[in-house]
Amino acid sequence: MQLSKLDIKNIIKGDEKMKRLIAVLMAFAMLFALTACGSAPASGETGGDSKTVDVGIVLPTKDEPRWIQDETRFSEALGSTDYSVEILFSQGSSAKEKENVDALIAKGIKVLIICPHDGDAAASAVEAARKEGIKVISYDRLITGTDAVDYYVTFDSIAVGEAQAKYLVDQASGSGNPLYLYAGAASDNNAFLFFEGAWNVLQPKIADGTFVIKNSSEAVALQGKAKLTRDEMGKIIGQVTTNWDFNEAKNKAEAHLTAAQAADKGNVFILAPNDGTARAIADAFAADPAVTSYKVTGQDAEKASVQYIIDGKQSMTVFKDVRTLVKDSISMAVSLLEGKEPQTTGSYNNGKIDVKAKQTEVIVVKADNVKSALIDSGYYPASDFTNLK
Ligand code: BGC
Repeated sequence: MQLSKLDIKNIIKGDEKMKRLIAVLMAFAMLFALTACGSAPASGETGGDSKTVDVGIVLPTKDEPRWIQDETRFSEALGSTDYSVEILFSQGSSAKEKENVDALIAKGIKVLIICPHDGDAAASAVEAARKEGIKVISYDRLITGTDAVDYYVTFDSIAVGEAQAKYLVDQASGSGNPLYLYAGAASDNNAFLFFEGAWNVLQPKIADGTFVIKNSSEAVALQGKAKLTRDEMGKIIGQVTTNWDFNEAKNKAEAHLTAAQAADKGNVFILAPNDGTARAIADAFAADPAVTSYKVTGQDAEKASVQYIIDGKQSMTVFKDVRTLVKDSISMAVSLLEGKEPQTTGSYNNGKIDVKAKQTEVIVVKADNVKSALIDSGYYPASDFTNLK
């Protein structure tokens, strides 16, 4: 049925009931126009139908700002894809992670992007996805001990550890500088890569007496060895792990300071694996009157740590531009959905197979380049910080 403007005018004049009918008809016409324009379900949202999710994303926890950064960047980037995506968090539990993957499988996903809470434990979840023909992309952390991983999108994690150690080496002069080592969770393959990178740079400077390790008998026992096996690293990490937990980091640092003599303090150098643990460890060292000064590393460029750096409470961070990792994993997923072979730059062995990988470089941030690296690049607005120069 079509109504001319004149018809409508006449009807409106004559009859109130008809007026309402016209309003309803017009609303229908508008709805039809929208549908005809092909308005698909919004990208980044779960479609109404339970079988319409194309890509499932599973992140380890909402309790660390690092993974909220990833969620935010995924949501920003997903605005430009036509595929529907759902993001779930595992809250530091492998059981919850498996439930999340099962829920996404039931929703018909074709690609799974997953950052495991525990690299070994995630194997069963991705094996279940593989059985359904779903392509698996390991995100940031490698899933280990299984052949059910198709691709890996990551930062150069060895370079992260090397950059942290190089910072400490560059700040140290003379010999006998007290060195405190801390590491990530042993269930995270990255913790080994970060430590391996740091050891590459620190070990020669421990061997030549520039640094003296103060908080790990296992590291002292191995300090003559330039290259450590995974088991050897595991022994050191077992002693100085933070488990990526701020409280554990703080408690461990306090225990080390209680055990140390005043002569083991003074101007100290601290290898802290990431920003959250760096702030916790820094606070513990800052509170010890026998610590004259401390240099402490970090990674992730979390806002709170960027403020700590501006305020002189944390020395550096390693900025991993999550926008790039997100972009790479989305374009990898889109290639897979379109039946194309994604681009990769190398491979990582996960204990079972070599997983094809796309790797991204990292950037060191100190007080003097916060502005150019993080503000001018549009990563954070200047208004998020105080006393920024
Ligand atoms: C990530 C870091 C993060 C840490 C703790 C690592 O696997 O690469 O960016 O700080 O996990 O969540």
